[in-house]
Amino acid sequence: MRSHYCGQVDSSLIGEKLAVVGWVHRRRDHGGVIFVDLRDREGMLQVVFDPDNSDMFIQAERLRGEYVLAVKGILRARPDGTLNPELSTGEVELLAKELIVLNKSKTPPFHHDENPSEETRLRYRYLDLRREEMQRNLRLRHDVTKTIRSFLDASGFMEIETPLLAKTTPEGARDYLVPSRTYPGQFFALPQSPQLMKQLLMMSGFDRYYQVVKCFRDEDLRADRQPEFTQVDIETAFMDEDAIMGLMEELIRQTFKSVLAIDLPNPLPRLSYAKAMELYGSDAPDLRNPLVLTEVNDLFDGVEFKVFAGPATDPDSRIAALRVPSGGALSRKEIDSYTELVGCYGAKGLAYIKVNDRAAGADGLQSPILKFLPLEAVQNVLDRVKAESGDLVFFGADKSRIVNESLGALRDQLGRDRNLLEDEWQALWVVDFPMFEENGDGVLTPSHHPFTSPRTNDSNELKANPRNALSRAYDMVLNGTEIGGGSIRIHDPEMQSAVFELLGIEPDEAETKFGFLLTAMDYGCPPHGGIAFGLDRLVMLMAGADSIRDVIAFPKTQTASDLLSGAPSAASADQIKELGIRLRPSR
Ligand code: AMO
Ligand code: AMP
Repeated sequence: MRSHYCGQVDSSLIGEKLAVVGWVHRRRDHGGVIFVDLRDREGMLQVVFDPDNSDMFIQAERLRGEYVLAVKGILRARPDGTLNPELSTGEVELLAKELIVLNKSKTPPFHHDENPSEETRLRYRYLDLRREEMQRNLRLRHDVTKTIRSFLDASGFMEIETPLLAKTTPEGARDYLVPSRTYPGQFFALPQSPQLMKQLLMMSGFDRYYQVVKCFRDEDLRADRQPEFTQVDIETAFMDEDAIMGLMEELIRQTFKSVLAIDLPNPLPRLSYAKAMELYGSDAPDLRNPLVLTEVNDLFDGVEFKVFAGPATDPDSRIAALRVPSGGALSRKEIDSYTELVGCYGAKGLAYIKVNDRAAGADGLQSPILKFLPLEAVQNVLDRVKAESGDLVFFGADKSRIVNESLGALRDQLGRDRNLLEDEWQALWVVDFPMFEENGDGVLTPSHHPFTSPRTNDSNELKANPRNALSRAYDMVLNGTEIGGGSIRIHDPEMQSAVFELLGIEPDEAETKFGFLLTAMDYGCPPHGGIAFGLDRLVMLMAGADSIRDVIAFPKTQTASDLLSGAPSAASADQIKELGIRLRPSR
């Protein structure tokens, strides 16, 4: 049917007879001549229908948007003055000699140039995917996956599939469960990641494994989270964290080089978790943004202002200052909106000082909190943050978690609002994570997952001081998004049991859930470690998309449903009965 893709036709083919197929992008009638922009996955070609051929011309008059055509014709140069430099095929047009309408289309719910709601786009995804941007995104995704696969293949990795009908793998989200028909009342869990299976593959002697694999997590969705998403999942044996990180950053560098022709730095910078929190309030900082938080606890020790006095001496709290260069120009209204923003993260307020004239002492400053603070403390803060006339300094004072989250979000927002982002790409490793996090009730949870090795090899040392223990985990962060995370794993059953114990997982429960892993560790388990990259997130960033939904062919909505097919949907009474399940009447 086709000699060339529409988008690949150019002036070297002038005079030749071509056969193209595609969709009617637009039809224009120009007093006696009909132009059709015919579109396929490679681009667009202008087809001309001349009234000389009257049967075909009548047929061409009836063409509408999204009709599917096969056209044969002679390629010719466009007349002077009608060239379209925006199209790769803009110098030529196909004079139609033969037209077959392969299929008609109803009037589509939106045209390519329109900006329909995401709901409409998802409902008619096949139409949405015809848009150039989506074609480009999915092609980029293909290119990225292909590059990653060839890099890993060349580095001795084997792609091995692992089961989807599996047992729970704790990555911190809720499981998607699949009821078993043959074992009524029992369930498979779709994997939150292949974590345990890839560790078993190392114990099975495969040494270097990877898999481009779907993972399932029932969690609150955001622009960079989907209930089913794709990981490039990787595991190695006999490599330490430096060797793994070195190889993995090479993978990302090569991907950027080959897909986008971008050179990322070699080596990538590394930042400790503690430093990341101190300077950016986040463990996934966007280093394109030059704003930093400055610790000022010590400068407010003993002041009367209660908002600062309490956090100044509480080890779980912090007072941080955020200098905004030229921020003195911020209006009352803007400051109010930032106060509202930090409020979403639990901050009780957003103190600030405007530095109108640094040389004028107290008279040069403007702030609702000046009257509560000794001038000397204020001057010391301004010195420390290197404030200049015209700047504004924000303050957060609260539990460290609240200050970090709220000022971290404020830093991001200011970066966007004030166009502060300096470079196009900023990738880094965040390392030296704490082994555990503590929830409000003093219960420990793993900061990565329960199979991550602590720094110490001594399980008694870990048990003696778990709150200060560091892990051997590492995250890769790109432009403020965590694109990958991994760790060296525990390979000693005693250490694994100690970690389960610290996490409050009783030996019985550990045996039921992870007994197979513990048993396998008893039979010659090599030291091993790995990482998983979030493929959707990586591609989203590389494509310049705002949401991972824009780089997934058929994504779910924010509320985890598929508008195109209407999933999830009810199952028949028979199916449910067969599964040994009874549904509670819905309320
Ligand atoms: P982790 O849970 O950090 O690690 O996941 C690895 C990477 O997967 C991406 N990601 C997601 N992307 C889209 N939607 C989601 N809901 C989602 N959740 C995570 C992120 C993240 O960095 N088994 C470990 C890896 C390991 O230790 O080797 C794991 O899954 O980009
Ligand atoms: P208040 O005494 O509560 O009216 O607060 C005085 C100033 O401190 C106001 O500008 C508040 O926005 C600010 N403020 C109050 N609580 C905090 C906090 N936890 N962190 C930073 N600023 C705060």
